Amino acid sequence: MSMGHHHGRETFSSGLAVFFATLGSAVGLGNIWKFPYLTGKFGGGAFLLVYLSCVLLIGLPIMLSEFYIGRRTRRNVVGAFHQLAPGTPWKGIGVMGVSAAYLIMFFYSCVAGWVYYYLFRSLRGDFAAVTPDLLKNEFGAVVTGVWTPVFWQWVVLAVVTAILIMGVKKGIERITKTLMPVLFLLIIACDIRALTLPGAGEGVNFLLHVDFSQLTPAAILTAMGLAFFKLSLGMGTMTTYASYFTPSNNMMATAVKVASADTLVSMLAGLAIFPTVFAFGMEPGAGPGLLFMTIPLVFSQMPFGQQLLIAFFFLTSIAATTAMLSLVEVLIAYFSEEHGVSRQKAAIGNALLIAVVGMLAAWSADPVGPLGQVVFGGRGFFDWFDYLSSNILLPIGGLFIVLFFGYAANQQDIIDQLTNNGTLSLGRSTLPIFFFLARYVTPALLVVIFLNAIGLLKV
Ligand code: PHE
Repeated sequence: MSMGHHHGRETFSSGLAVFFATLGSAVGLGNIWKFPYLTGKFGGGAFLLVYLSCVLLIGLPIMLSEFYIGRRTRRNVVGAFHQLAPGTPWKGIGVMGVSAAYLIMFFYSCVAGWVYYYLFRSLRGDFAAVTPDLLKNEFGAVVTGVWTPVFWQWVVLAVVTAILIMGVKKGIERITKTLMPVLFLLIIACDIRALTLPGAGEGVNFLLHVDFSQLTPAAILTAMGLAFFKLSLGMGTMTTYASYFTPSNNMMATAVKVASADTLVSMLAGLAIFPTVFAFGMEPGAGPGLLFMTIPLVFSQMPFGQQLLIAFFFLTSIAATTAMLSLVEVLIAYFSEEHGVSRQKAAIGNALLIAVVGMLAAWSADPVGPLGQVVFGGRGFFDWFDYLSSNILLPIGGLFIVLFFGYAANQQDIIDQLTNNGTLSLGRSTLPIFFFLARYVTPALLVVIFLNAIGLLKV
């Protein structure tokens, strides 16, 4: 099975397409919704610092491992391990990855539904005159509603499914290449406005001020989980996308570019949200509703404010949608290659399943919601889906992926793959660094952070 000649298997058509598709997976609600509210909750700068270290020391080596596994095998995440290590338990990584894709989709499609709904409302001009209290009530009504959140969740799933049915090139590639640049321009426009608000400096300080006293083991685990979630790592998303990479792609460069651009978008989102929070005297630790309760304020009562508000929810919809393309693509590639289901059937079948189970998330996102009181082990469905995937499955998956890369895979094969058979000179010099990280640093950090968080180890 030589590279690039899998029957009927598509690839992206250029390096640029590879970059935008992969960035489209990384940039999502993680940047615009999760990153700001977690940074707010865990006290700002110190959390940010841990997060950045995780991106560098844990994220990058795992991303590179996934790129290698994906492009080397040109298969879905289960098939990839089956091919590289037949008859071994390594394919358990693939099975875990498929499970994580479901768990994430259950709650992700729900939050994306709220975003679509806010886009719709801003298009209708509903946020022309708002106050902090009004927005709080508005958001409360959304997350405690019965059919509104579910309806919008289904709209989201329909859009994602329609794009995916078009295929890797005509669907994923075309959409991400068109929309990612738009997202970037829109977020810069929003930043310019937020940073010129009176009192914006306090928000910037909050983001940059480092105070280690708030860095509990739980905060560190969360920062690490966020790094996985943000970069779509530990579950085979990057493996699946890399299986569509061009043979000539410089994957080390792609990994560095995607991780940097993703971090930049997170910072830009933080810079849009925190100045607003402080300028309007709101709580930075307000939780999952932070985005929905602050952003409409930024743009209220100012020239072109309503247009900017539409721009903001549009860009967030783009981010969420392109990330979901990559989540569901893991499932589609798996079902079509391992079980012979057509792309179309796999897309529709999975969307239906996610629509049904996803209702559990939509109804448990708020304690006052329809299933808000169904709590086990201190969490409801929504929080369990999120916690289990980000803080447990992705880090464990990531640990095994990096161990596979560092110890089990054929090292010469990795070198050939990552240097495109020796044609990339840069690879020769940087690869040893990645091997060192992948063998010692990344696994050690993962284990320490993990044991520390579950209380088995005190550091
Ligand atoms: N990286 C995406 C985000 O930040 C979420 C995601 C996680 C996508 C895992 C794919 C796989 O929103």
